[in-house]
Amino acid sequence: MISQALQKARTYEETEGNKITPEQRPLFHLSPRVGWMNDPNGFSRYQGKYHLFYQYYPYDKKWGPMHWGHAVSSDLLSWEYLPAALAPDIPADSDGCFSGSAVELDDGRQLLIYTGVVTVGEWQGNEKPLYQSQCVAVGDGINYEKIEGNPVLNQNDTPDGSNGYDFRDPKIWRDKDGLYHLVTVDCTRDRRGRILYYTSKDGFEWDFVSILAENDGSCGRMWECPDVFELDGKTVILVSPMEMFGTDEFLSGNSTLCMIGRIESETHQFHLESNQTIDCGFDFYATQTLLHEDGRRIMTAWMQNWDTIVFTGEDLPWIGQTVLPRELSLRDGRLYQKPIRELADLRNGQVVYRHTVINKRTNLIGIQGRTVEMILEIEPETPGNLDMFEVRFAEKGGVYTSLIYRPSEHTLEFDRSHSGTRRNAAHIRKTRILDPAEKLKLHIILDRYSCEVFINDGMQVMSNVFYTYLEADGISFNAHGNAVINLEKYGLSKD
Ligand code: FRU
Repeated sequence: MISQALQKARTYEETEGNKITPEQRPLFHLSPRVGWMNDPNGFSRYQGKYHLFYQYYPYDKKWGPMHWGHAVSSDLLSWEYLPAALAPDIPADSDGCFSGSAVELDDGRQLLIYTGVVTVGEWQGNEKPLYQSQCVAVGDGINYEKIEGNPVLNQNDTPDGSNGYDFRDPKIWRDKDGLYHLVTVDCTRDRRGRILYYTSKDGFEWDFVSILAENDGSCGRMWECPDVFELDGKTVILVSPMEMFGTDEFLSGNSTLCMIGRIESETHQFHLESNQTIDCGFDFYATQTLLHEDGRRIMTAWMQNWDTIVFTGEDLPWIGQTVLPRELSLRDGRLYQKPIRELADLRNGQVVYRHTVINKRTNLIGIQGRTVEMILEIEPETPGNLDMFEVRFAEKGGVYTSLIYRPSEHTLEFDRSHSGTRRNAAHIRKTRILDPAEKLKLHIILDRYSCEVFINDGMQVMSNVFYTYLEADGISFNAHGNAVINLEKYGLSKD
């Protein structure tokens, strides 16, 4: 049975979504069918396809009672919209279907597990607490039925110390032991996020196992959107801390955290060996990963952030998109990210420059566009004689967006202060380059409204959006001092 609320959303998105032309969207990043998107949800493989759901409010370009939007793809680059999968329509989720994940059941059906929210209790400051519990819906890849027994996990299933309402974002997976495993987050009364671990024989009845990891107070406050998996012989936890105290490594506000370590088999507790940010751009939050049959651990995330919402495309009929999915690996105790290899299928028209000296503002023949991949190596012609190197893109007249490398500071800066915004917000994000080599390698991916930069083979990544009008498609280079560059550029298209 499709509820009235879901039918209304499906009818609305069909009419309004179809008015949006492909040219108004990114070429290969997923944007909402219409209206608002935040976290990706239920990122999974099912019946040979990638499924990606998302936090969705179709009726406006702002957050509202959360639905789940739905899209499928066979290459993670071309997305076909399916009808919205979930709407708030049962007592346990009457105020929204928050983030969650998906898994295939033994009988071939797909199970979605998500957080149902209900507004309860007294106002706390500007907010009324949302009572949160975990709910389940089962379906065939298009239509999902919420089970009678919802919620399957509620506040009574949280360990001592819980604040009584924050309890969300379940991530489910199957393991070799045949069990269903799940991590979710809650928050202590003194505002520290915890990752809670549960197991189940069937995906419906859950047993609490352990507090897998806990914020000691040094990584923000509440944590959101947890994920746990094995990678290259270690256990990796990804989570999105709220209210992070900004450091060289971590973005302040809503940030992201990768923890690398191992799980103690007796206690089911995580022992941290190292941690780092996942992305050092402005616009990255709420990761989700899947394990592909070919062994790849692939990650996506929301390419926006709660604190950067003011930075939006005012003329576009949608807001929010997911990052380009990335292949993860560990190297020397750090998380490395690479753009999914399928991106190479969109390449056309290779242009190559080798050992080209840049010492003033320069346009290079064949280098322009808004859907572009550039593999760029930059080094001083002689050691120490390069103060600054800049790539400008989405450029026309006085409008441009920049990446600036400062070898003496060893920093990379993303600057969108001239990207056509009318908002007074932070527009420059600077990151310390971790690899000490003077030669910098940047793998830059532009898709109309975004720039993702994979620094030094994916040791660091910087994701940022900008909403400059599409006719601004110039790319130029500049240097103070003498830079020698190698550049390999491809146009990206689907023809
Ligand atoms: C993270 C988040 C989740 C929640 C969802 C609500 O961005 O706050 O914790 O489930 O968004 O839309």
